[in-house]
Amino acid sequence: MLDEPARSGGFVVRDAEPNDVGRVFEIYSHALGALDEADYEWFRALVRTRSRRKRVAVVESSGVVVGFAVVYKQGRIAFLDSIAVDEGVRGRGVGGFLLSTLENSLRREGVEVVTLSVKSWNLRALDFYLRRGYVVRGMVMILSADPHRLDPPHPENHYTVEEIPAGRLRRLRLRPTTWWSNLIEDVHRIIYKRYLKGERAIVVKSGRRVRGVAEFSHNGRMFVNYVALSSYNATNVLTEIVHKLKATAIKEKLNEIVIPVDASKKVLVLELIAMSFRTRETEYLLTKDLSNCDT
Ligand SMILES: CC(C)(COP(=O)(O)OP(=O)(O)OC[C@H]1O[C@@H](n2cnc3c(N)ncnc32)[C@H](O)[C@@H]1OP(=O)(O)O)[C@@H](O)C(=O)NCCC(=O)NCCS
Repeated sequence: MLDEPARSGGFVVRDAEPNDVGRVFEIYSHALGALDEADYEWFRALVRTRSRRKRVAVVESSGVVVGFAVVYKQGRIAFLDSIAVDEGVRGRGVGGFLLSTLENSLRREGVEVVTLSVKSWNLRALDFYLRRGYVVRGMVMILSADPHRLDPPHPENHYTVEEIPAGRLRRLRLRPTTWWSNLIEDVHRIIYKRYLKGERAIVVKSGRRVRGVAEFSHNGRMFVNYVALSSYNATNVLTEIVHKLKATAIKEKLNEIVIPVDASKKVLVLELIAMSFRTRETEYLLTKDLSNCDT
């Protein structure tokens, strides 16, 4: 939480309140709607959920919300999930003020590193972060496939595969395929309990042991925002997951499956590409070390 609202040149940064959801969603839809998957109900649940692990901050001018940011944190690491400023006031220092206010408050809470990802074509946003001390650390591949053309190897049959509401998943000791997933998934699960549409999860087990999980939502296409696999037989577990995703997508007439994967997970990237996934877009991973800089 921000200790108290921060002020600069007529702009005030403060924690979001339930009444802000409408404006936050409006700014989100204009600035980021084409970039990310979320809807009004999701933002409502996000703002209303109480958790020290997430923060939604807004910046207002003369009582009107003109920007917002969503941050998740876990111990010494924070993940800036989204930041956007109303088009009419961009380029006047609002985004920079919002970002530095958040960084200062995170630093006071013991956060040492802020991480984020930015679409690789969003060069203005990339420069915005680079000028503020962030450095590129890696890349995420956003992989996509037409479910009808997907060709996963034959499953091995010693796994059981079931689908449950994502809110029912418990904390798992699995390796996620994107590095930021661990930071945000616990919070997301709390939010899913309030988010009426809910996300769904595919769970792969051998005996009673959970070997893999994939969480997905759909909005015309199937977006798999979280995949985690046990290190043992990871590629077989992935095959099981892809079979189930394919069957579900075809049954529900979804014509695209999208999965983000950390580019450094070479084996998984190669497996998915071999099954007919293709790179839809890429994102840069950026980090900023808060412990040795002044904002
Ligand atoms: C990125 C963003 C939050 C910056 O907010 P802002 O209020 O314009 O930020 P500031 O005025 O403090 O700084 C603007 C800087 O960002 C750059 N910039 C990036 N995108 C910009 C945009 N769409 N319009 C104006 N300036 C932009 C400017 O060139 C300027 O450069 P500077 O670093 O030399 O000052 C805002 O431009 C925005 O909402 N963009 C669309 C959403 C987005 O891309 N978010 C990031 C996703 S990871």
